[in-house]
Amino acid sequence: MNVWIINGPNLNMLGIREPGLYGRQDSHALEAFCRNACLELSAQTGKQIECEFYQSNHEGALVDIIQEAYWAHADGIVINPAAYTHTSIAILDALKAVAIPAVEVHLTDIREREDFRRISYAGMACEAHYIGHGFDGYRMALAYLVQKYGQ
Ligand code: DQA
Repeated sequence: MNVWIINGPNLNMLGIREPGLYGRQDSHALEAFCRNACLELSAQTGKQIECEFYQSNHEGALVDIIQEAYWAHADGIVINPAAYTHTSIAILDALKAVAIPAVEVHLTDIREREDFRRISYAGMACEAHYIGHGFDGYRMALAYLVQKYGQ
């Protein structure tokens, strides 16, 4: 099973950006966390779970990555579109276009922050949502996809 983990703008600044909100661990630590979660899930289930890890600060590049996941026959997408969550119909449309099972993740609880963070366009194309669990949300999203779609 191959899951594409896609991160949006400013998530490359983890560890530096607003550490009181996003923590002190950087994006390399997040990638290592996700790769380790795949190893653990593989060991737990006896299925081979692999992940591709992407980050871009550009909306169109994120659309391109979602489309590439289709051509690469990805089995699932874990997506944290960051600020584009709240603005991007292009990312919503891309997720709908590829129709790959997608799960939305946010490190922080966007429901408890500013009003403009309450709407999630990308989330409308996602079948599960792990919001406000920090890095662990990515592990939960991977576990969801493995449990539902791993063969
Ligand atoms: C975020 C929440 C977004 O509102 C914000 O713009 C981000 C990160 C999160 O993971 O908590 O950049 O997606």
